[in-house]
Amino acid sequence: MKLFIGIDLGTSAVKLLLVDETGEIRREATREYPLAFPQPGWSEQKPEDWWDGVVSGLQELLDGVDRSQVCGIGAGGQMHGLVALDAQDAVIRPAILWNDGRTGEEVDYLNNVVGREKLSKLTANIAFAGFTAPKLLWMRKNEPENFARIEKIMLPKDYINYKLTGVHCCDYSDASGMLLLDVEHKRWSKEMLEICGVCERQMPKLFESFEVVGTVLPGIAAALGLPEGVKVVAGAGDNAAAAVGTGVVGEGGCNLSLGTSGTLFISSRRFGVDPNNALHAFAHADGGYHLMGCMLSAASCNKWFCEEILKTSDYPAEQAPITKEKLGRNHVFFLPYLMGERSPINDVDARGCFVGMSMDSSRADLTQAVLEGVAFAIRDSLEVARSLGLDIPRTKLCGGGAKSPLWRTIIANVLGIPLEMVKTEQGPGYGGAMLAMVGCGLFESVQAASDALVELASVTEPDPELTARYELQYQKFRKIYPAMKSIFPELQ
Ligand code: XUL
Repeated sequence: MKLFIGIDLGTSAVKLLLVDETGEIRREATREYPLAFPQPGWSEQKPEDWWDGVVSGLQELLDGVDRSQVCGIGAGGQMHGLVALDAQDAVIRPAILWNDGRTGEEVDYLNNVVGREKLSKLTANIAFAGFTAPKLLWMRKNEPENFARIEKIMLPKDYINYKLTGVHCCDYSDASGMLLLDVEHKRWSKEMLEICGVCERQMPKLFESFEVVGTVLPGIAAALGLPEGVKVVAGAGDNAAAAVGTGVVGEGGCNLSLGTSGTLFISSRRFGVDPNNALHAFAHADGGYHLMGCMLSAASCNKWFCEEILKTSDYPAEQAPITKEKLGRNHVFFLPYLMGERSPINDVDARGCFVGMSMDSSRADLTQAVLEGVAFAIRDSLEVARSLGLDIPRTKLCGGGAKSPLWRTIIANVLGIPLEMVKTEQGPGYGGAMLAMVGCGLFESVQAASDALVELASVTEPDPELTARYELQYQKFRKIYPAMKSIFPELQ
């Protein structure tokens, strides 16, 4: 029996899956690592912690397994993070992550001086604070000695692939989020590299996600007890990998991922751009393209509220008092902008707020407001997609937040569409393993792997009465951010 390893290099932890050739998940292992917020709005992690987590997680994953059966490895990873290595292959500084908001000035420069139109022409996207290009500009200005030492630039999962294979590589889906790739033609944009003061020699070699970049280095294979020649595919950004894992490939499918971030991912065979650039236009891991809305704090809002504020990790107990009659009738609203926001408002200064509380507001009302606020913010991205004429009659759902039946009900009714869960809801890790199967020749395409392996498990249908109630609530929610917007910069 052939075995494949899928890696989901997330923001809170790395999750590893051992998947057999029939698609069954045989084992799982998780390693958490710290996330640092050195200043308000900053977000960093040490690439060395990711690698330690991967190595120790693999040791647990493979314990007692016939390792000679392992054929391939594929990773999906948190996107946009800037990892910079020097000439000795040492990490120059902690990685600046996708949800880091320090680059307000650089984003302004890129969008307003270089100009949105030019950026969109060169890269199919405009600048957002979490993207990699503004981080390079930030480093050039604020840490010139670090910037001068950069030999290699990579994204988080590419660091893992580099440690595994010694190959400096990146796939098109993840590279799309750097604002350095000509997404339509799948090549580095020389002009963008120049604007950021870097050159092609420092950039990784580009691959399709399912292409093999190399094999596990002999020293690493020996340490992990792996056979020689285990193939490593280029892998994908976590959202593209998650979409593969839920079978959202080819034309017109939608996947909603409710993890630390919340993303609405619309797959397409053809390249297309949102004329207002509110949605990202990126390459997909199946060889095609996708549009994506990304909110920076989704399941993390609930985690923050439960763990940091209420001091509990018993999420079901907090949600138990929120009965069906309470849905769509909450007087409390929550803006989920705890790390600023990306899609669709692109505002690094925006912050979380509770609005509408009175003396009878309860702990459960606030919990409900948090779940609803995230759902309303997802609806904001869905509305942008609808305004482009895209028909989204249903969506797949994955990520940690998808485990809550209450949250699924709220989201299905706020969006007004059915939410489909697949049997293996391990989005990015499972997608990574599927990409490895394609790279190892088990399937001839990502579409074929998806047709063979992805099975539907359950559907949460919207209820017309509840959808109508939530429509009224959403129309109120929409007015809150514009009313608050001008205050946020003053709160910094
Ligand atoms: C997507 C994005 C996030 C991260 C989370 O653009 O920034 O979804 O990939 O891991």
